[in-house]
Amino acid sequence: MQQSPHGQWSSRWVFILAATGSAVGLGNIWKFPYTAGENGGGAFILMYLLCVFAIGIPVMLAEIMLGRRGQRSPINAMHNLAVEAEQHSIWKLIGWSGVVAGCLILSFYSVIAGWALAYIPKMLLGTFSGIEAEQAGAVFKGLIGNAWILLLWHTLFMLMVIVVIARGLEKGLERAVSVLMPALFMLLIVLVLYAAFSSGAFMQGVHFMFDADFHALFYPNCTPEQTDCAFSGQGVLSAMGLAFFSLSIGMGAIMMYGAYLPKDTSITSSAVTIAVADTLVALLAGLAIFPIVFANHLDPAEGPGLVFVSLPIAFGHMDGGMFFGTLFFLLLVFAAWTSAFSLLEPVVAWLVESWKISRAQAAIGSGIFIWLLGILSVLSFNAWSEFKPLAFLAETPFADKTFFDLFDYLTSNIMLPIGGLFIAIFAAWVMTQAARREELDAEPPDMSYKTWLFLIRYITPIGVALVFLNAIGVFS
Ligand code: TRP
Repeated sequence: MQQSPHGQWSSRWVFILAATGSAVGLGNIWKFPYTAGENGGGAFILMYLLCVFAIGIPVMLAEIMLGRRGQRSPINAMHNLAVEAEQHSIWKLIGWSGVVAGCLILSFYSVIAGWALAYIPKMLLGTFSGIEAEQAGAVFKGLIGNAWILLLWHTLFMLMVIVVIARGLEKGLERAVSVLMPALFMLLIVLVLYAAFSSGAFMQGVHFMFDADFHALFYPNCTPEQTDCAFSGQGVLSAMGLAFFSLSIGMGAIMMYGAYLPKDTSITSSAVTIAVADTLVALLAGLAIFPIVFANHLDPAEGPGLVFVSLPIAFGHMDGGMFFGTLFFLLLVFAAWTSAFSLLEPVVAWLVESWKISRAQAAIGSGIFIWLLGILSVLSFNAWSEFKPLAFLAETPFADKTFFDLFDYLTSNIMLPIGGLFIAIFAAWVMTQAARREELDAEPPDMSYKTWLFLIRYITPIGVALVFLNAIGVFS
């Protein structure tokens, strides 16, 4: 396979940081806490962890492997691999679905990253000092209620992403991630310590996160006394979707990064490192946020606003809160930034490969397209908050969703798991044993290779299938 025309990572460490930068993002710090909160806490988190280890890590490994062997953007990499395995190039569809999913995700991701951007000046100006829960909620509603302001921040974030991508991957990104990722990690620990020692509700948060109450997961909106509640598999589906989303797998982002990986690097240990770091950050974010939620009698199921309401309250009451608060949202922006990079990169690399245009042109063109798409999400929080485009699909999970909700649900809960399923099938059943062994450097008898092969052959496909069947109500 001819080497990638886009360049290579300068070291294994930089690849790990970039891939961890892709994985750690709004998914961990913003989405994980509120989704866990909406689905009852502990049992959801247990399902999430199960999905990360039984499905997520094997798929991540497969993605890195396919990327490195294919040496191109996901669409062309899958084409190369299909040719190598003497199969129909229909397998390219994995790459196509990834490009579509990447555009959809980035379009709403940028809007949420815009919220984080907007909170930086708010923190700096002391908007939250001494603030109570109710006012913090009002500040947040004031922000998302104003479409023009949201559009402004969304535009700024997209520009930030376009600029970095246009300049190529090694220059800005490699340096940025090596500073920002450790800093984010440390700040989260500071916040967890704060939550542990000063919120007075740390244990309540811990119990919420780690007491597995399956009733709350399977029977949402239902008290333990009720007996006639409707079963729902949606919670488990959300746990799996979140695992895919948070690990950045199922759309080819990690495949793209794998294509830039030097041949002599161990894929297995890299995948495990990235996934463990990602999971740790999600759990730390939960430990930082839930105690504050309970200490201030907020609702853990309050939805996407959770982090933007609960954390400012904590910062507003903490010594040096203005400083830490500013830093936190700054780092949240950087975490989102390094993630967004991996959403746009596959699209841009594909445009460069196939259309023979420059990287800058590709980045600007696709960036504008995604920016436009993002306007649908901007409006979902204000002017169109009551507009449910698929309302005619009554009784389905699609009916009561705004554009933002739809894009989120469609990508996380459907496109990523299905993408991951086919990535698993290709890596496990289509690719030749020799190619697999060569990429994974597996000399028989290699236990970690055998374990992975078992997981990716049986557990991943069966797991994804079961969760889907469960979600459409087959087992209820
Ligand atoms: N994992 C990132 C987060 O947790 C989001 C993300 C970046 C992503 N690239 C991706 C999600 C590719 C799915 C696929 O915020």
